[in-house]
Amino acid sequence: MGRAEKVILAYSGGVDTSVCIPYLKHEWGVKEVITLAADLGQGDELEPIRQKALDSGASASLVADAKAEFIRNYAFPAIQANALYENRYPLSTALARPLIAKLLVDAAAEYGADAVAHGCTGKGNDQVRFDVAIAALNPNLKVLAPAREWGMSREETIAYGERFGIPAPVKKSSPYSIDRNLLGRSIEAGPLEDPWTEPLEEIYLMTQAIENTPNSPEYVDIGFEAGIPVSLDGRSLDPVTLVSELNERVGRHGFGRIDMIENRLVGIKSREIYEAPALLVLIDAHRDLESLTLTADVTQYKRGIEETYSRLLYNGLWYSPLKEALDAFIQQTQKRVTGTVRVKLFKGTARVVGRQSPYSLYTPDLATYGAEDQFDHKAAEGFIYVWGLPTRVWAEKLRQG
Ligand code: ARG
Repeated sequence: MGRAEKVILAYSGGVDTSVCIPYLKHEWGVKEVITLAADLGQGDELEPIRQKALDSGASASLVADAKAEFIRNYAFPAIQANALYENRYPLSTALARPLIAKLLVDAAAEYGADAVAHGCTGKGNDQVRFDVAIAALNPNLKVLAPAREWGMSREETIAYGERFGIPAPVKKSSPYSIDRNLLGRSIEAGPLEDPWTEPLEEIYLMTQAIENTPNSPEYVDIGFEAGIPVSLDGRSLDPVTLVSELNERVGRHGFGRIDMIENRLVGIKSREIYEAPALLVLIDAHRDLESLTLTADVTQYKRGIEETYSRLLYNGLWYSPLKEALDAFIQQTQKRVTGTVRVKLFKGTARVVGRQSPYSLYTPDLATYGAEDQFDHKAAEGFIYVWGLPTRVWAEKLRQG
């Protein structure tokens, strides 16, 4: 008896996931492997990948265009939550995992599979995200992770694949481990493992080096409705087009890079480089619009929710009761986060320089230092007396010794 009869395997076309196919069949006794390649905007051609799975022994090879769902149902809620792990990483890789898990679980139901599989190793966050998300969506499905158990080196993996007709990679393989989708790129390993080593310019694809950016600034007006980005420069755009265009425009000006040491869930510190031009600008613009349209207490309370939300997303708990509860809070806050934010792109910066909203709480008559000032200055005196009273009492006691 094998570990499973029929398996849906998350498939990228790379060596590891390709080797998973014969490995599942020959080492683990799986009768049938169906692969699923999800298009999340990683820029790969899907047809050769579909064919490669069949050549590697898959009985069927599925391809799903999930870009729109990715942006609408995963990226946009994260933007509403201003989600940044450890205050910096906009979770571009992490957001893709619960969606891929859902596609696997749906395919398993459709094709009557008793297990799903992925090619993650045992050191990263992604294995946790897949396994927990799959368990949340269907606790009866088995999850197989061959690469977590097989203990083969890179060379051994390639040699194993060659026995089953999987060609060794043609190019000399890059020293980096790279994950990419429409939201961004995550780059680690190789020379980056030394935290003191500056990344070579060659690792970046979505963002220009400052030396190559335009010499004049560019403005982009980002329109939001209820916390959701809906337009650029007044043109309504579907989610995928909006993010693609913004990536292009922001990246051209060299904004969107992050170089950080992050704390993985499995206890390891890792050095990661990210590029996420559009996502970073959207979060910043969204947060700015909130500062115009939410009251002070909601804005400040939401910061704590955002931190919890980001950590939970990073740690693989996208489908969880706490996440659902935080979503309810966040959605409630977004109803009036509607308006336009103007961002100035120039030489590696993306700065918010203007914002407007039909629901703006900004009151010129109260804020102005000019003659139109409506604020009751006398009222401030009584307010300060009451506000400062506990401090005054404390200070007097202190002086008395
Ligand atoms: N550290 C990031 C995360 O946990 C990215 C992981 C994938 N990175 C990679 N280079 N393969 O979300």
